[in-house]
Amino acid sequence: MYGKLIIKAFIILSAAWLAYGAVNCTAAGRFADPADSTCKNYTLCVLVTSNNSYIGYNYVCPTTSLFNPITAQCTTAYSCNGTSTNTTSTNTTSSSVCTTDGFVADPTSTDCSSYIQCVLINGAFLETTLTCPTGTFYNPNTTLCEVNYVCAFTCTAAGRFANSADTTCQTYYLCVLTTTGTYIQYQYNCPTISVFSPVTRMCTTSYTCPTASG
Ligand SMILES: *[C@@H]1O[C@H](CO)[C@@H](O)[C@H](O)[C@H]1NC(C)=O
Ligand SMILES: *[C@@H]1O[C@H](CO)[C@@H](O)[C@H](O)[C@H]1NC(C)=O
Ligand SMILES: *[C@@H]1O[C@H](CO)[C@@H](O)[C@H](O)[C@H]1NC(C)=O
Ligand SMILES: *[C@@H]1O[C@H](CO)[C@@H](O)[C@H](O)[C@H]1NC(C)=O
Ligand SMILES: *[C@@H]1O[C@H](CO)[C@@H](O)[C@H](O)[C@H]1NC(C)=O
Ligand SMILES: *[C@@H]1O[C@H](CO)[C@@H](O)[C@H](O)[C@H]1NC(C)=O
Ligand SMILES: *[C@@H]1O[C@H](CO)[C@@H](O)[C@H](O)[C@H]1NC(C)=O
Repeated sequence: MYGKLIIKAFIILSAAWLAYGAVNCTAAGRFADPADSTCKNYTLCVLVTSNNSYIGYNYVCPTTSLFNPITAQCTTAYSCNGTSTNTTSTNTTSSSVCTTDGFVADPTSTDCSSYIQCVLINGAFLETTLTCPTGTFYNPNTTLCEVNYVCAFTCTAAGRFANSADTTCQTYYLCVLTTTGTYIQYQYNCPTISVFSPVTRMCTTSYTCPTASG
């Protein structure tokens, strides 16, 4: 019963605010704001490859969660005094993309421009969709937004998904969940003259492919 509750917070933080104050970034990653004694604020440091410097974007942990500087995640299992508390392990459902505190790829984002922050609060996952800073892409390996990451489509949920690399909108991916919990990925072409609509997730003639969008 407990782990079955899923809270979905479709809070699209379109842009975290750019800041130089909170953390002086010297490496890529998420770092606690040393000035925040409430342990809620953290900074995502992103490497700008063109000039080999870092830019910091400030975030606030959702609701009652706090930023644990060791795991670099928002969690309710953290005591702000510096001692980490060990709460019970998490039981989750397959209907959620979240299985533990931390960050996962956004299954609806085929261009890796957004990701989901998972925080277990009272037995339910609070899922917050965060957008990577412009020009950076969510790398599931590092869980960071990176300039150099090449977004390749991989199934993280069942269903049909647009192939964002295909500017003609004629191909899409079908993700099928197997009994072992893994996904099988197929690529399909829409029948001639039709295109794949990411809205209806169907091949249709009524969708206009945004070619050369800016
Ligand atoms: C960051 O660096 C600037 C300039 O060196 C300094 O004034 C500021 O106090 C530093 N901030 C933090 C949080 O260390
Ligand atoms: C934490 O971030 C919030 C949101 O920007 C800000 O209002 C607050 O002053 C920050 N707290 C500290 C201690 O910097
Ligand atoms: C590096 O480039 C970014 C993006 O163009 C810019 O915002 C930043 O100020 C630059 N940093 C330095 C140290 O020049
Ligand atoms: C912080 O530490 C003090 C003293 O050790 C304790 O009384 C207090 O409950 C702690 N606060 C938190 C949020 O754990
Ligand atoms: C949590 O408990 C496990 C097993 O009891 C232990 O190995 C781990 O170090 C603990 N983690 C923290 C942060 O205390
Ligand atoms: C969590 O999962 C474990 C192992 O699957 C199970 O033994 C336990 O009863 C579950 N706990 C809850 C609260 O569902
Ligand atoms: C992701 O991690 C795997 C295993 O550690 C590694 O083989 C792979 O090269 C990594 N991919 C990227 C894009 O970093």
